[in-house]
Amino acid sequence: MFNLVFTILLVSGIPVNDGKEDAHKFPANFLFGASTSAYQIEGGNEKLYGKGENMWDFSIKKNPFIIANKSNAEISCDSYHKYRNDIELLKYLGVNFYRFSISWSRLLPDGYSNKVNTHAVRYYNDVINLLLMNGIEPMVTLHHKDLPQKLQEIGGWTNPYLAYYYEDYARIVFTYFGDRVKYWITFNEICVGYGGNIEPPFLNQPEHAGYLCRNVILLAHAKAYHLYDQVFRNIQRGQVGYLIEGRWLQSATEQPEDLKAAERARQFFFGLQGNAVFHPDGDFPEVMKRRIAEISKKQGYLRSRLPDLSKEEVTFIQGTYDFLAVNYYSTVLIKDSNTTKDDVGVDKFQNEEWKKSASEWLRVYPDGLRNILRWVKDTFDNPEVFITENGFSDHGELNDTDRVSYLKLHLEALLQAIYEDKIPVKGYSVWSLLDNFEWMAGYTEKFGLFHVNFNDPQRTRTTKLSAKWYKKVIAERTPSV
Ligand code: NOJ
Repeated sequence: MFNLVFTILLVSGIPVNDGKEDAHKFPANFLFGASTSAYQIEGGNEKLYGKGENMWDFSIKKNPFIIANKSNAEISCDSYHKYRNDIELLKYLGVNFYRFSISWSRLLPDGYSNKVNTHAVRYYNDVINLLLMNGIEPMVTLHHKDLPQKLQEIGGWTNPYLAYYYEDYARIVFTYFGDRVKYWITFNEICVGYGGNIEPPFLNQPEHAGYLCRNVILLAHAKAYHLYDQVFRNIQRGQVGYLIEGRWLQSATEQPEDLKAAERARQFFFGLQGNAVFHPDGDFPEVMKRRIAEISKKQGYLRSRLPDLSKEEVTFIQGTYDFLAVNYYSTVLIKDSNTTKDDVGVDKFQNEEWKKSASEWLRVYPDGLRNILRWVKDTFDNPEVFITENGFSDHGELNDTDRVSYLKLHLEALLQAIYEDKIPVKGYSVWSLLDNFEWMAGYTEKFGLFHVNFNDPQRTRTTKLSAKWYKKVIAERTPSV
């Protein structure tokens, strides 16, 4: 009888724990993974492979100085050629799933035409088939920052028409690969370079282009979701998730105005990304709509800088998820402010006491992971969650004890979220499988469980301490190893 109940629970996806309640162990059906993205690991940019230019290729070619040490991703980890090797590493770890992305400009070189690049189809087919042969579930991000340059030139994600091109691209991806891929994520952290002058496409209009980008992304996501629902789901039986960047925003003090400001900042940050999808009422949060409309008016704008979602759009977007994907790395402190120029009205800063990483934005605060999961449970409609990224940067040490300690602390926080806060977390994935091209930081900040020698034409991979440790965690389903 127990076996029957256990099997039913396993199949249903409800967390179970081998019948033994042990809050130090992840449920038996919990999934462990490792993550990468196409542009950061593939290379394979040679003409011969037919990949089109994307906005990162273009921006780096235009000005190589934008990337630390003038580096680029022309070869990166060379996973285009070395994917078999990477899959061996995944097998070594014993992961249940591998999260990677498809490069839009590799599959559709100019972004919008029906000319599908057969090299790309062969490459992604090989990756997917080899994963499945080794019992590793592919989790595929449809778009992870690398927009085809031709689409960037018509405004990128500020152009509402991109939602249609994205839907066309998604249809092609589902058609070619959806018979075998059962976990999809529509987007990964797209609007960064629209809202600040920190990365391509360098639009640098936080409170204008940033909002437009979010608006178009939401519509594009919903289109892809409905397309999957109406055309593919019955046959392919997969799930489509929506991802939010999960930086936790915490009040710097216990003062009521700071506590209020921190919640306002969360409404803005997570609300802008996910309210329309996950909140039972949909749309952007009221506080955001009101505040931005008021400030825009004072500034003399004819209309709010936050584009309205029409009633039809709100309905179209609301509930378009099978799971919520969260990337969590770190926490930022918030103080109320009436001098800042942003719409939120807060100052943001780091807690200097928290342990540093190699990335200026990443300090260690594991409770932030638990906090965001609680917030999401209370504010959104208690969605099932995958932690799709969590990781620590250093300078490439093989004996990476700081990474082990970071991962351990975060996995412990996750256990508390599962058992104490009763949050339906289905899986967890480390960023990253490999040291790779860390966007503007190039190869100066390393996140990998495996070291990659970027000076060696073979791009030799070496196992770090953290990989050996994570392998044990997965085998024993507990961070206490
Ligand atoms: C989130 C992004 O998805 C990924 O591309 C990046 O490398 C990591 N954060 C680390 O910064």
